[in-house]
Amino acid sequence: MASFLFTTIFCALIYLADFFMFSVGTDTLSANQTIADGQTLISQNQNFELGFFYPGTSGNRFLGIWYKDTPDVVVWVANRNDPIKDSDEVFFKVAENGSLVIIRDETIIWSSNSTGVTSNPILQLLNTGNLVLVDKTSDFLWQSFDYPGDTRLPGMRMVYNSNPGLEKHLTSWKSNENPSSGSFIYRIENQGLPEMVILRDGVKIYRSGTWNGVYINVPTFYNLVYKPGLVFDKDNKLISFYDSYNNSILTRLTIDQSGLLHRYTMNERKDGWNLVYTIPKDPCDDYGKCGPNGICRVDKVPICECMEGFAPKFKPDWDFQDWSGGCTRITPLSCPNGDGFLEVTGVKYPAMLGFWLNTSMSFSECRDECLRKCNCTAYAQPYINNGGSGCLMWFGDLIDTRVLPGADMNQNIYIRLPVSELESPSDPKNKKKNRPAKVVLISVASGILISVVLCVGVFVLARRKRQAAERKSEDLELPSFSFATIAAATNNFSEENIIGEGGFGPVYKGNLSSEEEIAVKRLSETSGQGFEEFKNEVILFAKLQHSNLVRLLGCCINGDERMLIYEYLHNKSLDYLIFDQNRRTMLTWPKRYDVIMGIARGMLYLHQDSRLKIIHRDLKTSNILLDETLNPKISDFGLARTFRGDQFMARTRRVVGTYGYMAPEYAIDGKFSVKSDVFSLGVVILEIVSGKKNRGFNHRDHHHSLLGHAWLLWKDNKALELMDECLNDSFIESQVKRCIQVGLLCIQKLAEDRPVMSSVLFMLGCEGAVLSEPKEPGFFMERSSVDVENVTPTSKDSIRGTITITELEPR
Ligand SMILES: *[C@@H]1O[C@H](CO)[C@@H](O)[C@H](O)[C@H]1NC(C)=O
Ligand SMILES: *[C@@H]1O[C@H](CO)[C@@H](O)[C@H](O)[C@H]1NC(C)=O
Ligand SMILES: *[C@@H]1O[C@H](CO)[C@@H](O)[C@H](O)[C@H]1NC(C)=O
Ligand SMILES: *[C@@H]1O[C@H](CO)[C@@H](O)[C@H](O)[C@H]1NC(C)=O
Ligand SMILES: *[C@@H]1O[C@H](CO)[C@@H](O)[C@H](O)[C@H]1NC(C)=O
Ligand SMILES: *[C@@H]1O[C@H](CO)[C@@H](O)[C@H](O)[C@H]1NC(C)=O
Repeated sequence: MASFLFTTIFCALIYLADFFMFSVGTDTLSANQTIADGQTLISQNQNFELGFFYPGTSGNRFLGIWYKDTPDVVVWVANRNDPIKDSDEVFFKVAENGSLVIIRDETIIWSSNSTGVTSNPILQLLNTGNLVLVDKTSDFLWQSFDYPGDTRLPGMRMVYNSNPGLEKHLTSWKSNENPSSGSFIYRIENQGLPEMVILRDGVKIYRSGTWNGVYINVPTFYNLVYKPGLVFDKDNKLISFYDSYNNSILTRLTIDQSGLLHRYTMNERKDGWNLVYTIPKDPCDDYGKCGPNGICRVDKVPICECMEGFAPKFKPDWDFQDWSGGCTRITPLSCPNGDGFLEVTGVKYPAMLGFWLNTSMSFSECRDECLRKCNCTAYAQPYINNGGSGCLMWFGDLIDTRVLPGADMNQNIYIRLPVSELESPSDPKNKKKNRPAKVVLISVASGILISVVLCVGVFVLARRKRQAAERKSEDLELPSFSFATIAAATNNFSEENIIGEGGFGPVYKGNLSSEEEIAVKRLSETSGQGFEEFKNEVILFAKLQHSNLVRLLGCCINGDERMLIYEYLHNKSLDYLIFDQNRRTMLTWPKRYDVIMGIARGMLYLHQDSRLKIIHRDLKTSNILLDETLNPKISDFGLARTFRGDQFMARTRRVVGTYGYMAPEYAIDGKFSVKSDVFSLGVVILEIVSGKKNRGFNHRDHHHSLLGHAWLLWKDNKALELMDECLNDSFIESQVKRCIQVGLLCIQKLAEDRPVMSSVLFMLGCEGAVLSEPKEPGFFMERSSVDVENVTPTSKDSIRGTITITELEPR
């Protein structure tokens, strides 16, 4: 690769050699030519620019490379740890011996220390953003890609080497104004199998999960645009990792001052950046979140569980959500003769602490070997693409295991348990849990055991088959209810059963039986949707399962009429509680915080973790329903539009949603994306914290909406004044402030400034996360001058009960 590039450059150089004196402003610099403050080199494709810059207001000067179209985004800094503090004249040049130097007053402030030049060294800023030094004789003598800063550009390699001098990793800046080396490092680690880790002051805070032969991270991050590449040298010592890309897309990976990795791509207008993803993306990414032998599931409340056969080591701490103590075995192992294995599917493998790896061993040999070693606690296949061979074993506690989002993952681990702890079909305790785990029992020496095991095995197999068959029929069938059933359940659609009404028609409460209550949404118009389309949508939505989503049970079709049947929830909707003088006190701060977290989890599931990518488009407090334990559930997918996973943004001619919650680009241009949902979530968060409605908000000092009010308070450092007074007895200051800040980040005017849902969840849930400063919110204007509602051609805001839908005609 490097040599190919070199050939290209070399040819270009020979061609240019006649002209020899290059003027500054082109992409090359020859010996003795200088770059002074204000002068720059620009890559041929006009994407990158090199020169002196002053970050922030510090007054310090650095030599760096940035994107020409977005000069604020600096991708590399030469003298990051040697700032130029005064305003004296300085020059950057290539010395005759090939050293790159920054000189002030004849003294060298910074030097690249590169040497070995034979003649006429030339420095060039390549189209990739790589600054390279070449002469007529050899390969790159020096290149900036060998000295990464906080940004990885396509083609740049991260290198693992046991010699720290040869390692190449990213290091965060100290602050926005100070590019010197900060606390966070993003690097490759290779304990047997390579993986990416983030360190804070040398302590591991995140690991990607091991290279499995195909990818080195949660695969949902990869698509056609990004592909990871991993290169081992002959003796497996030097490993480098890079991203290969579609060249037509500008992209970068940056580790920020708070240790978050962000992947950005340049937007179509080439004047700003879209945030594609952030790592860590949820609390389960925190290294060792659930302690030894715990397992993290981001869609569960609480997120940590002990592995099957284990129980919390310190129960009171565990119950208070301090999971660091982890779990211990309920029953000790009975090695060598009484153990088996429990399969846990779709996991990020535990950390490579005590392990043993053999890449050629077969899977059954692996199992036998693990059984034979009494200190082996689990085994798995290291690679998902190696035809089933290879053996990875762990010894001791299993740390940092998590369930991966995304359904069809082949990363399964087999946890060693005594046979007595393995799930057996006759055990009612285990039946209830209904885990996706399967049991693999291993026959061992004792004859009695063999027959017992055989019986159990047959039983398990039979049960598994039955379950699979049940699941299959579920997949295919439209979950539908007969009209007669629904009519009976709703007392023949009696007026008294109506619990809400909106643009799409009335919602009825119904009773299927004495226990089973349902909510029936009767769609008044067919919305031009064909029967097949409707049916498919119902099948899709009925498959969504998350503790923070209202469950769609099925549908009912009667002639032209269509109805959706949902689970019924008792505590009404969030707006019914938080905006009411008396009922608001039911929701103390800890409850409200849980509600906020729950909504964010539900939204993350819709955006990212369900098999579809779903934009809700009408998230608002009245669409959040609460169950008996005040667990929030997002409802009303009537407006949801499914996205294909690779689609970032769509545009609609028919804007449907609710004013006060709609993002500017959606309300005005009809553009909706995950970021318009993030905006709505921001409004919901601020409403929950303040107990006030965004729409209809009044303040004696100004005419701003709740959003503007929140931002003004934030800027005045009085954010806490936004909080509902009724929380005075229960609030936790840092949490409230964090929620307000996250709310403000979500409602920022520009969609690209808003975080994605995974970052929202991370920022809300992570005590230590350093958050960026919110910019101006959308619709920040006093309503006396420009009324936001002016953009509403017809608005039919409704009505009674919990469901409000506003429809707009196409513009
Ligand atoms: C660079 O400057 C040195 C000393 O000033 C001189 O000897 C040398 O010839 C110059 N090189 C080029 C390529 O102009
Ligand atoms: C290269 O040249 C620079 C400037 O002339 C000088 O300061 C430096 O010591 C030289 N480096 C080597 C290794 O000779
Ligand atoms: C170059 O060498 C000097 C002296 O050894 C050292 O202080 C400086 O940090 C080096 N520069 C770089 C960029 O490594
Ligand atoms: C690269 O991206 C462009 C524009 O998005 C697309 O047209 C092209 O097909 C992509 N090429 C590859 C190889 O994916
Ligand atoms: C790995 O397993 C294979 C097959 O069992 C065996 O031949 C080989 O010696 C093992 N390698 C090591 C290093 O244990
Ligand atoms: C596990 O036990 C084997 C012998 O069965 C021993 O060789 C190995 O060192 C032990 N490993 C650990 C991590 O204790």
